[in-house]
Amino acid sequence: MVFPEYRPRRLRKNEAFRSMIRETQISPANLIYPLFIVPGKGVREEVSSMPGVFRISVDQLGREAKECLALGVNNVILFGIPEQKDAVGSGAHAKGGIVQRAIKELKNKAPEMLVTTDVCLCEYTSHGHCGILHGQEVDNDSTLEVLAKTALSHAEAGADMVAPSDMMDGRVAEIRAALDENNFHDIPIMSYAVKYCSAFYGPFREAAESAPSFGDRRSYQMDPANAREAMREATLDVDEGADILMVKPAVAYLDIISRLREEFDLPVAAYHVSGEYAMIKAAGLRGWIDEERVMAETLLSIRRAGADIILTYFAKDMARYLRK
Ligand code: PBG
Repeated sequence: MVFPEYRPRRLRKNEAFRSMIRETQISPANLIYPLFIVPGKGVREEVSSMPGVFRISVDQLGREAKECLALGVNNVILFGIPEQKDAVGSGAHAKGGIVQRAIKELKNKAPEMLVTTDVCLCEYTSHGHCGILHGQEVDNDSTLEVLAKTALSHAEAGADMVAPSDMMDGRVAEIRAALDENNFHDIPIMSYAVKYCSAFYGPFREAAESAPSFGDRRSYQMDPANAREAMREATLDVDEGADILMVKPAVAYLDIISRLREEFDLPVAAYHVSGEYAMIKAAGLRGWIDEERVMAETLLSIRRAGADIILTYFAKDMARYLRK
């Protein structure tokens, strides 16, 4: 059928038609809100490169969770900034560690909140790398044990799901085994399966104090040029027992989200990362773009590409927008 028999504008005439044929929806239930937890009491400090995002202390979590729940956002992912760092990141699996305390506080104050934890060492190591160093290199196999211990300590503290973001080889299998051996068969793993070595993480590293003190993460995070390798990474994580596959960042990697959606039947998540958030905020604050509409259009593009779940600093803003 061609013009003039077919006129696509017929179904764009008014909002009733448009909403009737709308292909993609976003609900607050699809969104995961990242939280940065810092030591101290009564702390609520804005991250300078992420306007609207706050680093908060454990005692502020009840209030934060209630605000999220009131908006329909019932998913958070926790990042901890510890009091002290050391070479082997022992704060990551400490019993009274910052994330472990945060999980307990959340489960106490807002039991309906689904609590996922980021499992990585970069916030806990003095050198800022995501694993244990042998010389100047991040050693894969000795890091696995520490990651598994960390994931297990999160489960013991009451986490609902763990999300390894370190990009070591074999970590999903190691974490699955540690959880299963300790009767946490029912705790899913959302794997950062396809995580690129990206400049879009800049603002996060300010918020989490996790920039590497030397070198970069190219020897463990993926080369942005590679798409076929993404399929191999995802296949490995599926075989090792991942329950959800994540792509990170999101907008510069919509092709990867779409390929994962086509080739795998597990739920796909995408992390709309700190730099992606910061760019929209910065232009919005200057009045150069309509921030709300760009936010909604961006998150929609990630869903349209095939992501079921979006981790985003816009979760609360988007939930508010959807109410209007
Ligand atoms: C930890 C981790 C990072 C992010 C999530 N988990 C930083 C990094 O890999 O350097 C980035 C998230 C963001 O930029 O919003 N490894």
